[in-house]
Amino acid sequence: MQAKSGAKEKEKEKGGATNKNSFLTDITEIRRRARQHIEDGAVTDTYKGDRHVVLRVLNEALATEIVCVLRYKRHHYMAKGIHSQAVAEEFLEHAAEEQEHADLIAERINQLDGEPNFNPDGLLTRSHSEYVEGESLVDMIREDLIAERIAVESYSEIVRYLSDNDPTSRRLMESILAKEEEHAEDMKSLLETITREEMFEERNKAS
Ligand SMILES: [Fe+2]
Ligand SMILES: [Fe+2]
Repeated sequence: MQAKSGAKEKEKEKGGATNKNSFLTDITEIRRRARQHIEDGAVTDTYKGDRHVVLRVLNEALATEIVCVLRYKRHHYMAKGIHSQAVAEEFLEHAAEEQEHADLIAERINQLDGEPNFNPDGLLTRSHSEYVEGESLVDMIREDLIAERIAVESYSEIVRYLSDNDPTSRRLMESILAKEEEHAEDMKSLLETITREEMFEERNKAS
């Protein structure tokens, strides 16, 4: 029975990974995947079993952070236009903070006798957030905001799962979660400022 549902899940995962056209499908898939691992953990009684799930979930968080570093770096170098300088600096700052998160998670995986997965093969499948380049500055900020919201959502689930099972990993993920919330707020403010300024310029051009 379990093998059957496992095969089904795998089939679903495959479908979700290939369907990149719909953003909503991707988020649903990402949340389903995070939830699935957590449910696996709940039925495992032995420490070894729990550790296995914790390591898998932490490696997914590691992949998420690496993808965030790469996306923010890309956005930093590609930011153009009159508003670009301050935004490019913000992208770079976020890239450095995501790198710190990746290092902290890798260190924790190591402490749990696991292996941090830095393999570029399958990185986007393991990651909860996506790598979207974005054409304009506004596109880039919007994609970063979406990625941060995904991280907030999935890390919140990870924190709830870790609960008392692994308080050290939970505290680490809580501190990272707080930073992702700040990042999301930064991107939201930037998006509002740039949109307002662009509207103002358009109005000036028209008059
Ligand atoms: Fe991060
Ligand atoms: Fe972030």
